Amino acid sequence: MTKHVRAAGDADSDAVIALVRECWTQYPGVVFDLDGELAELRDFAGYYRALEGEAWVAELDGRVVGCIAILPEDQPGVWMLHKLNVSPSARRRGIASALVREAEAAARARDAVRMVLWSDTRFIESHALYASLGYEKIPVTRELGDRSNTVEFRFRKSL
Ligand SMILES: CC(C)(COP(=O)(O)OP(=O)(O)OC[C@H]1O[C@@H](n2cnc3c(N)ncnc32)[C@H](O)[C@@H]1OP(=O)(O)O)[C@@H](O)C(=O)NCCC(=O)NCCS
Repeated sequence: MTKHVRAAGDADSDAVIALVRECWTQYPGVVFDLDGELAELRDFAGYYRALEGEAWVAELDGRVVGCIAILPEDQPGVWMLHKLNVSPSARRRGIASALVREAEAAARARDAVRMVLWSDTRFIESHALYASLGYEKIPVTRELGDRSNTVEFRFRKSL
């Protein structure tokens, strides 16, 4: 099996939509509302590019099975990870780790000193992933007030 991380392109949006839908619908209570709450996925690469960020997909044997994006925060040197998802069929092969490392390297190249992220309290697999990659969970949560009644943990890592 060959895995490959590459910059997301304009042709990847449909695959990314299917991927995020597949991931989120595995969690009871998590609503995948494409037009109401996730419209940025319709132009995954372009959305992040327009905000001075970057987006990537991971392929396994030529099929898109993972995605991630980064955006700069208001504070200088601080960047945020967004939209990390890996298809259930492709997990525990290091694909999320490869995506996060790619995103960290790109942020570092743009003078980042810290990466931060928010993660749904229900996405427990990701909390183990972030710990394995050196992210620290800090004692703060936020409520999104969205259709999924999302509460999120905050993570950070010095780069
Ligand atoms: C979290 C997620 C992205 C991990 O993707 P992945 O490609 O399977 O992760 P990796 O293979 O790179 O895992 C690296 C390490 O993270 C930890 N980890 C990942 N998934 C884990 C799990 N289900 N249980 C325990 N540890 C886990 C392990 O330490 C793992 O190393 P190992 O496989 O050698 O034990 C994937 O499960 C996913 O998409 N989940 C649903 C969406 C989500 O939570 N997104 C993150 C939003 S913030």
